[in-house]
Amino acid sequence: MKKIQFFDTTLRDGEQTIGVNFSIEDKISIAKQLVSWGVDVIEAGFPVASKNDFKSVRKIGQEITNCKVTGLARCVKKDIDAVIDALGDTPNGQIHVFIATSPIHREAKLHMTKEEVIETINDCVSYAHQKFTHVEFSPEDATRTEWDFLVRTIRTAIFAGADVINIPDTTGYTNPEEIGELFDYLKDNIPEFDEVTFSVHCHNDLGMATANALSAIRHGATRIEGTVNGIGERAGNTALEEVATMLMVRGDFYQAATNICLNKTFETAKMVSQKSNMQIPNNKPITGANAFSHESGIHQDGFLKNHATYEILTPQSVGVAHSSIPLGKLSGSHAVTVKLEEMGYEIDKNTTKDIFIKFKSIADNQSIVSDDDLVQMMNEMQSVTNKK
Ligand code: KIV
Ligand code: ZN
Repeated sequence: MKKIQFFDTTLRDGEQTIGVNFSIEDKISIAKQLVSWGVDVIEAGFPVASKNDFKSVRKIGQEITNCKVTGLARCVKKDIDAVIDALGDTPNGQIHVFIATSPIHREAKLHMTKEEVIETINDCVSYAHQKFTHVEFSPEDATRTEWDFLVRTIRTAIFAGADVINIPDTTGYTNPEEIGELFDYLKDNIPEFDEVTFSVHCHNDLGMATANALSAIRHGATRIEGTVNGIGERAGNTALEEVATMLMVRGDFYQAATNICLNKTFETAKMVSQKSNMQIPNNKPITGANAFSHESGIHQDGFLKNHATYEILTPQSVGVAHSSIPLGKLSGSHAVTVKLEEMGYEIDKNTTKDIFIKFKSIADNQSIVSDDDLVQMMNEMQSVTNKK
């Protein structure tokens, strides 16, 4: 089994979500929750960005002792110095440096030639490595970078002291097949591939972030970067809970272990949702309110006969209390009968049909039939029921 490390950037890329601004106290609570969830590295922030970012990275570095804590820096001396000041004296402090490598970023944003980019990587990674044993390097917009040049940037970073190479799909541009081929190319063209950790960082602009990250894992990445609930710049990042759950549910396929305590997933997602003021959508995989709810009669009937007909994991495995069978116009008589029996009614087989006709007439006019509606319905049908 290979081991996949989880690098959580909820506090850095996640905070780049429009409207999200965690207080220092929030950041510390989230960092502690991430530790108990089992992540391997917390990216606590971008210390040069603001006084508060600096303070929170420093505080998290001091308070979190059982997990690696990293700070982000551009390939710029003052950014690296800010990470050194924030984390340089903490036992678990690390640094993550990045520079854009794609033609569009080199030309339009950095105004740098390829040679200048290479020189800058060499200078800044060596500088960061003087202070930090562990240096992560990211060629920003890697998936839109010429592959042969990407290899040069990565090897330069490795020779300068980087021990983690992260491949960012900064604009969510790639797809699972292509990122798999890119990792195969890197493996074939970087003799040092197995001597360092290869990581992947995907954005969700085309809805592919989780799929792309999983493909990278299949093709050699052993670290995954992402956020809780998939929050992050624009359409967000890979949702770490989706990757962790996939690796568990399809352990037969991925053959990969993680340190994530899956049954703490829901409480972690709820905390980040509350502190980011971003509701988890009902249809969000794993943690959404509908993820373990069964609405149609055919599904409800199958689920009641054997949960595995429509559930590929138990809600408890990710920390959700139980599945639910909301009753609505698509529900079948099996689910309605089971629900009424759970509520304490004795349902005579001969009356099931009448009850169900009555139920349908109510359900047709509203989205969900509540317990109160059922009580009222049964009161109206007293002649055919016998409350226990
Ligand atoms: O998306 C990106 O490229 C980033 C880097 C800083 C890793 O967030
Ligand atoms: Zn990013």
